[in-house]
Amino acid sequence: MQDPAALVEAFRKEFGGEPRLYRAPGRVNLIGEHTDYNDGFVLPAALEMATWVAAAPRNDRRLCIRSRLYGQDASFDLDDPAPTPRHDWTDYVRGVALMLGCEGRPVGGANVLIASDVPVGSGLSSSAALEVSVGYALLDLAGDIVDRRRLALACQRAENEFVGMRCGIMDQFIACHGEAAHALLLDCRSLEYRLVPIDAKVRVVICNSMVRHALAGSEYNLRRQECERGVALLGAVLPGVRALRDVDMAGLERHAGLLPELTLRRCRHVVSENARVQQAAAALQAGRVDAFGRLMNASHRSMRDDYEISCGEIDILVELAWRSEGVLGSRMTGGGFGGCTVSLVEAGAVEAFGAAIVTGYVKATGRTPEVFVCSPGPGVCHAVS
Ligand code: GLA
Repeated sequence: MQDPAALVEAFRKEFGGEPRLYRAPGRVNLIGEHTDYNDGFVLPAALEMATWVAAAPRNDRRLCIRSRLYGQDASFDLDDPAPTPRHDWTDYVRGVALMLGCEGRPVGGANVLIASDVPVGSGLSSSAALEVSVGYALLDLAGDIVDRRRLALACQRAENEFVGMRCGIMDQFIACHGEAAHALLLDCRSLEYRLVPIDAKVRVVICNSMVRHALAGSEYNLRRQECERGVALLGAVLPGVRALRDVDMAGLERHAGLLPELTLRRCRHVVSENARVQQAAAALQAGRVDAFGRLMNASHRSMRDDYEISCGEIDILVELAWRSEGVLGSRMTGGGFGGCTVSLVEAGAVEAFGAAIVTGYVKATGRTPEVFVCSPGPGVCHAVS
């Protein structure tokens, strides 16, 4: 947790003047992985861990940014006619300012100091927290009324078009719309959503494998291509199929012979995962946490075997969880190839669970995992020091 007063003090020292404070959360996805860019369903929750921004307007058109995390600063001209990415964290910030500008928002020059406690590169969406906190700050400083849906879309566009990562809408959307003690069921086609309360008798526990394999970004874009190939082949025989969201298991099985084996497995993950998300949201709403947990386990197997986005370390964490007392379900969360798992654990079993995971994972890998019990928090907001 950041100390807001310390951030304000640091801003005064580094830039001078009085900043306003904003925060946007990281997220954990309970179920629905790689479904967002297939127009499907996801069920994430916002974390208490967040990116904080202290910001104040400038009199010119420069965006001056400093990160306490990276200990680096940068300065950009908002009117640069040919902005080029630097391939580091500043691209997220600059990309958001550019996209808001492209969409006609009145973004002006600003001094921005950034601090974060969302672990970077761990599948908890530190990048969306950064984009959304900065985007919200720039709009608020310009006196613009923040439309959260548009902000989420502009941040996704920044990542797609400026950073070069073809992510879906899940991370930016939950960073904008999260609510304390709730998960959020999102239809990524219509962007309609429903908050689902998390049963008080369970805890959402995140275990960080502390590994991130380098192929994560390139493999992500390859998975998207396979999905697009599946849609092209299935769309030729199933009228009205615009995305894998429009395919059900029966349709996929009927036309399985049309797809190369790899494409079939990729599509099977997405199609089955979409069905699981909807069943899981209904189960959570009804307090059927056992059923929810079984769906999480099935989701992990599907990601591991069909979508092939897990890795050895993550499978070890998940299997340790599956063997622990009081664990209802466990799976990898986020884009894949490392990062974190999410487990649903009976409230009374959390402590023993954490201890068992740490011991088992250290023994198997020599690495010490981080374990967080999370209480879902709110979406992006103005903060006070
Ligand atoms: C990353 C992307 C999201 C989503 C997940 C996988 O977090 O940013 O849009 O695709 O991976 O579910």
